[in-house]
Amino acid sequence: MHISQLTLSHFRSHKYTQVQVESGPVALFGSNGAGKTNLIEAISLLSPGKGIRKANTADLSKSPDNIGWKLNAEVVSGVSSNLIETSWETTSSRIVKINDKVVKQNDLAKVFRVVWLLPSMDRLWLEGADGRRKFLDRLTLSFFPKHADCVLNYEKAMRERNRLLKEKMTDDVWYKALERQMAQNGLLIQSNRIAALKKISSAQENSTTTFPIAELSLSKTNGDLTTDEDEFVKALSENRQLDVMAGRTLELGYPPVILLDEISAHLDIDRRGALYQEINALGAQAWMTGTDKNLFSEFGCKAKYFHVIESSGISDIKEVDFSVD
Ligand SMILES: Nc1ncnc2c1ncn2[C@@H]1O[C@H](COP(=O)(O)OP(=O)(O)O)[C@@H](O)[C@H]1O
Ligand SMILES: [Mg+2]
Repeated sequence: MHISQLTLSHFRSHKYTQVQVESGPVALFGSNGAGKTNLIEAISLLSPGKGIRKANTADLSKSPDNIGWKLNAEVVSGVSSNLIETSWETTSSRIVKINDKVVKQNDLAKVFRVVWLLPSMDRLWLEGADGRRKFLDRLTLSFFPKHADCVLNYEKAMRERNRLLKEKMTDDVWYKALERQMAQNGLLIQSNRIAALKKISSAQENSTTTFPIAELSLSKTNGDLTTDEDEFVKALSENRQLDVMAGRTLELGYPPVILLDEISAHLDIDRRGALYQEINALGAQAWMTGTDKNLFSEFGCKAKYFHVIESSGISDIKEVDFSVD
């Protein structure tokens, strides 16, 4: 899976930025504040949710103009390609279009898959489980496009139930219906997460580089993961559909687009080399940022290099050839 064309209009520091790329890695380099992460953020908004910075739509609008923003992209998966447009005008809510048709935000997961790693996620394994769950859900979504709907349905039922509790409602039937929805979606969420971890683990078995391997599992602080057998059986049978779909996706074997913000600066030269080897082996379109072009020199001619420059508060981008400075 890769982006072939991306356009940012009035998005943060980008007044009008257009990038044409191929399926390989993309290195964005330039000074601090040039607009590199803004570009990566734009890509993250081609998937459901609020993107890498969890920003409000209004904050994404280029100041001082503040007239709203628009992103256009062509995304390619194997032989199929789709046009994604997402935009916000100051008076409405965010609009999402796939091939010129207005769709729900969650539909983006069906045509575009993306995962990311950011400097702010440094403490992911040290801090609370909430951040790790969100990270895992993003990875899971890249395997199971319907995962976003499960999370949405679960949260919807949970919010509704909380509302009933707050209003001290006593309608048992209503509670039961919502709790059933929560159990069903909760179990789906859980089995998707476990299946995603399994896929990641088995993918690592074939790794041939020295990049460290992660041992991953899902656990609960108290008790077992499974709760109600009836519910679980039901959830499993529903999940079979998803697995079949994922199997097909996986057979096609297109890795998601990967966003790595300032990741190279954290790694020593050997691990950096190993990471780049993994990216090459996956054939993934990894968008990477860094202050210096030489951080990406191990990619040689395999990557595309863009210099991101800021002048008078407006970001500009210039493709440059690979050469060791
Ligand atoms: N809504 C906005 N309108 C205009 N400029 C913005 C907006 N949001 C952020 N910026 C500017 O973008 C720059 C940061 O861009 P960023 O992509 O984070 O830089 P870096 O290249 O270091 O990753 C800052 O100079 C900031 O002022
Ligand atoms: Mg940055």
